[in-house]
Amino acid sequence: MMKNKNLLATIIALTVMVVAALFLTQKEQNNSTNSTEKVKIGVLQFVTHDSLDEIYKGIKAGLEEGGYTTTENLSIDFMNAEGDQSQVQTMSKKLVDNGNELLIGIATPAAQGLANATTELPIIMGAVTDPVGANLVTDLKNPGGNITGVSDQTPVADTVSLIKEITPDAKTIGVLYSSNEDNSKIQVAEFKAAAEEAGYTVLEYAVASSNELASTVEVASSKVDAFFTPVDNTVASAFSTVVSVANKSKTPIFTSVEDMVEGGGIASVTLSQYDLGVATGKMTAKILDGANPADTPVQIFNEGTVVVNQKVAKELGITLSDDVINQASKVIE
Ligand code: TRP
Repeated sequence: MMKNKNLLATIIALTVMVVAALFLTQKEQNNSTNSTEKVKIGVLQFVTHDSLDEIYKGIKAGLEEGGYTTTENLSIDFMNAEGDQSQVQTMSKKLVDNGNELLIGIATPAAQGLANATTELPIIMGAVTDPVGANLVTDLKNPGGNITGVSDQTPVADTVSLIKEITPDAKTIGVLYSSNEDNSKIQVAEFKAAAEEAGYTVLEYAVASSNELASTVEVASSKVDAFFTPVDNTVASAFSTVVSVANKSKTPIFTSVEDMVEGGGIASVTLSQYDLGVATGKMTAKILDGANPADTPVQIFNEGTVVVNQKVAKELGITLSDDVINQASKVIE
């Protein structure tokens, strides 16, 4: 009898231990499900330059405004192709294979790479100038497929009057851009039309890669009175080279973004890069909440503000009139 009692006690003790162990394992699993419950998204940035870096900062802020933060419910798989097309392809495929639920492409070539990698996962364009020309959507209002996002349509034609005010004697303008970027084509055409209508001679200098920038600017400097650069990633990422070569002949550079005015350009009509990012982040949050890219219109930014660089003007021997200074939203001293 005594023996049986002991056996019974042992059995009860063992059962309690097994149940407790099962319960603990279960609890641990629950905990780990909680942390993997984060929504996984992938971000592909085409190249490093200040504007795209700022856009990415804005994206994170916009996501947070929309209720998604990496400390709580979001995990971001971030990659930067550093301007290399084959990396764009490899990384796009990786971002799909990594099990991300949604992908963001910062700049046109990145969005195009992602679009080639998936027709199923939602793709959000972060600052793509010409989504239709880049074959990413067929209709801005009604994207129709898995892609929507934010389009930066810098009003480059407005730069023409700025050029007239700042360099009234200029006659020939050299447009510097990359032949591989669909975003630049449309802006070059727009700028050229407006400049020619205003009586300027426009010479186009298209480079195949940033390696050609220095020699191209060197050659062009003797033929043009001013440079204009559109919102072009290749030029932006090697802008210091452009500035140092153009400075030798004291040729002013009109740009399309504030960061490049800060980096040595004389003036530009620009969009806030950070705001573009915030809008991209907010739209991403909406899609994560269940909206469908197919019927989410592309959001367009096309109202620019003037930024001038007083320091560069002085170095080039150019006087900025009160009129110019007064219309500027920012004067870099
Ligand atoms: N709009 C560019 C594109 O479509 C990307 C871009 C955003 C950019 N801001 C910029 C390029 C500033 C150069 C400078 O690819």
